[in-house]
Amino acid sequence: MTTTETAPRMPFDRPDVLQVAPLYEVLRREGPVVPVRTPAGDPAWLVTRYDEARDLWGDPRLGRSHPAPEDAAKISDAAVMGGPSGRYETEEADHTRMRRLLVPAFSAKRMRLLGDHVQKLVDGCIDAMVAAHDVSADGVVDLHEHLSFPLPVAVICELLGVPYADRDYFSDLSDRISRMSGGDDARVAQVEFAGYTAKLAAAKRIEPGEDVISDLVAGQIADPTFTDADLATLAAGLLFAGHETTVNRIDLGVIMLLTHPEHRDALAADPDGLAATTVEEILRLSAPGGLGLVRYAHEDVEVGGVTIPRGDAVILSSPSANRDNRHLHRRRRVRPHPAAQPAPVVRARHALLHRGEPGPHRAADGVHHAVPAAARPDPGRGRGRPGHALRQRHRRHLGPAGHLVSGVATKRQNGWPAGSA
Ligand code: HEM
Repeated sequence: MTTTETAPRMPFDRPDVLQVAPLYEVLRREGPVVPVRTPAGDPAWLVTRYDEARDLWGDPRLGRSHPAPEDAAKISDAAVMGGPSGRYETEEADHTRMRRLLVPAFSAKRMRLLGDHVQKLVDGCIDAMVAAHDVSADGVVDLHEHLSFPLPVAVICELLGVPYADRDYFSDLSDRISRMSGGDDARVAQVEFAGYTAKLAAAKRIEPGEDVISDLVAGQIADPTFTDADLATLAAGLLFAGHETTVNRIDLGVIMLLTHPEHRDALAADPDGLAATTVEEILRLSAPGGLGLVRYAHEDVEVGGVTIPRGDAVILSSPSANRDNRHLHRRRRVRPHPAAQPAPVVRARHALLHRGEPGPHRAADGVHHAVPAAARPDPGRGRGRPGHALRQRHRRHLGPAGHLVSGVATKRQNGWPAGSA
């Protein structure tokens, strides 16, 4: 039996950025919850299987904070998810407040406005890429430079009300913050990031706009306990959460399609029919970080025959859970028709993220429109087909919860074998 001393240390070796570590499959067979060591060398519980990861993700007995942070297992030296975050005493209330503050910011009206704008941004990026291709001596253009990076950054700037001219500055900060071995520099960058958003908030106080930071500023009037420091932290968190993630998924999604030409061709032949499931698969299979979500047990939690003691670190492994064949096979068995859409699962995912309530998480659906549009192979040399129908579908089927532990399989998706990407 594996003990803390013999437990494997994360991150596990992976063959390349498209594949997850083969050890995940071994550990999944060993059990739904297995002991591991974090990249920092501390003990933690790794949740390997879909059902347990999904349940624990929505379980209020786990949190991001720790009852005694100085005793908590460290995950890594990263400034984000490197250890416990937030205040144990107020985590639930802080989280509820965050969602309440973000609801108007991600309203249907705002998402509609943003959706039209995103389509224009996609067209602009693709046009620039085609123009660069036309003058390129070797016929090569950089997708990351022309699409994967500028598109999500432009979208998040628009959503939050951040000047696009500052994109390189905040991208550099966000890059420094997200490094797993970021150490002190990552924390310095985090403080600088909060300072940058504090300045933006001050400007919005004088001249508010139709954007999230202006909403947060307005939220302060209704809730005086929401301090300037809280606002700066939340705005910086959104800027960070909303851009790095999406940039990665566009890059990885395109590589997945290029390495699976049969899917690329099928999608090119039927973009309206296949875009939603293709994006869902990209979100399910992409695992840029390779770790998963970090939580701490706020009380003893019994799961999969294991008791996780209060205070222990828990890593909900989305890379592993998303490739759990038990779940994938079950879904294939129960789905009455191969084309049936997985709406109930999506609803469950939203509920999970919001701990049982519908909430601002629909939020990111609007921003996620950037992903399918970008990942869609171009039927007319770069020009996307009208995105409206596509966007409607994504609104129904995508959600930030889904991209974590989704694992939705339809017959159409089955050609992307679990573990292959
Ligand atoms: C493909 C792109 C994205 C991916 C892969 C992604 C991934 C994630 C993950 C894994 C979490 C859960 C973290 C945890 O529970 O510890 C999360 C939460 C969150 N994300 Fe995203 N995200 C994406 C895009 C966005 C965008 C564009 C925004 C907003 C502008 C956003 C805002 C948020 C917020 C506010 C939360 C916290 C929700 C809560 O705790 O209730 N995300 N995202």
